[in-house]
Amino acid sequence: MNASLATVAYIASTILFILSLGGLSNPETARRGNLFGVIGMTLAVLATVFGPRVTPAGYPWIIAALVVGGAVGLVAAKKVQMTQMPELVALMHSLVGLAACLVGFASYVDPTITFASPAEKSIHEMEIYIGILIGAVTFSGSIVAFGKLSGKIGGKPLLLPGRHWMNLAGLLVVIWFGRVFLQAESIDAGMLPLIVMTVIALLFGIHMVMAIGGADMPVVVSMLNSYSGWAAAATGFMLSNDLLIVVGALVGSSGAILSYIMCRAMNRNFISVIAGGFGTGGGAPAAAGDAAQPAGEVSPISAVETAELLRDAKSVVIVPGYGMAVAQAQHTVFEITKLLREKRVNVRFGIHPVAGRMPGHMNVLLAEAKVPYDIVLEMDEINEDFPETDVAMVIGANDIVNPAAQDDPGSPIAGMPVLEVWKARTSVVMKRSMASGYAGVDNPLFYKENNRMLFGDAKKMLDEVLAALKS
Ligand code: TAP
Repeated sequence: MNASLATVAYIASTILFILSLGGLSNPETARRGNLFGVIGMTLAVLATVFGPRVTPAGYPWIIAALVVGGAVGLVAAKKVQMTQMPELVALMHSLVGLAACLVGFASYVDPTITFASPAEKSIHEMEIYIGILIGAVTFSGSIVAFGKLSGKIGGKPLLLPGRHWMNLAGLLVVIWFGRVFLQAESIDAGMLPLIVMTVIALLFGIHMVMAIGGADMPVVVSMLNSYSGWAAAATGFMLSNDLLIVVGALVGSSGAILSYIMCRAMNRNFISVIAGGFGTGGGAPAAAGDAAQPAGEVSPISAVETAELLRDAKSVVIVPGYGMAVAQAQHTVFEITKLLREKRVNVRFGIHPVAGRMPGHMNVLLAEAKVPYDIVLEMDEINEDFPETDVAMVIGANDIVNPAAQDDPGSPIAGMPVLEVWKARTSVVMKRSMASGYAGVDNPLFYKENNRMLFGDAKKMLDEVLAALKS
């Protein structure tokens, strides 16, 4: 493939990636968006492999890498549970960061690269320095995020004394060594400042994510998504690959927009989240033994009684959360929805922007179960309807329906907008125990007079509710 054909293929891929992002912004067009992405990526890989910059001598290496990478990806996609998706995504981000670092070091020591002028050499070295910096922060930050999301590392923020000063000192050292690196006479002389900077960037990535509390992890996930895009763009600069630069910038900027949306959804200031210290209430993923301190009496309800409540209701709002994903209860939820709608009950879904463990988690599950999109509403669209709702059915959700976010200024989730299910005539919370949610805080909703607790696995309980509704 000659250079002009490769450029045309790159432009076509770029357009397909933009169409893909556009498609993914709406559940109805998401499948098409995904397909555009797959075609765009295939075209991009083919144009690169058969393009002017790869010689046939490189083919065995590329094929070996494709086979190994493809096999790992296939096994991961088959084995990983839907609930482990955020951890997998964090791990993938770390690979993008690692790739940026490795490409950076490789292109620094590459003897075949020649420069037309000293200025060109300096620009290339600056690209390497910045690329490795972003890559190293993304790599170590994503590894820690993976640990936190999978519960291998506790969610409690690590708040070292003088941490902001430490970060500032690290930044100054990185700038200083950047100067030393650019002035180095030889590759050997430049290697030391490059390695020192890499170590500082790795430590900074660890420190940055360790300082973020459990409740703020959604922002970290989207932020690292953005970083991985910038790391890819930096790799594009180092390899002089225009497509990688454009795609990296697309991922970087869309991740940054998502982080902003997440911050707004959680009523957080982006800078404060990055500075760390929020969400100090713990935040290891909810475990059954994690019971919060009791703060009153709870009123349990049976599946049969829940079915009666639903049958008598005119308006029902279902609020799904992480527990629905764990129990894989979305299909039963849709069966119940269909049955109630046939009985002319107005059933709608209320989706919190950070429900579950990844952006759009609930939308994906409901779409998979074929719930019609027009009854799936965002938090802002449904919140004012709760006072006119007969039954609010909370399925495996906790933090996103916690009134303490509004009533308790000392709560780690204070200020986070929540779905006001307690304003419905009756709310039913379906979960296995009194355990706290991701943020590790007690939920006063459970003790409210108009709230009932339906204890048990969400899938099992919903199957029982469905059976009772049918009988
Ligand atoms: P959580 O607050 O984590 O609550 C989920 C609840 O589901 C738990 O209290 C758990 O209680 C219950 N549960 C678990 N397995 C269940 C099962 N098999 N059947 C029934 N219930 C089950 O979830 P949420 O309300 O969706 O809120 C999301 C939280 O995750 C927020 O704090 C958010 O900040 C955080 N987070 C979100 C994201 C994104 S991007 N969405 C990323 C990282 C973190 P039991 O153990 O008693 O059953």
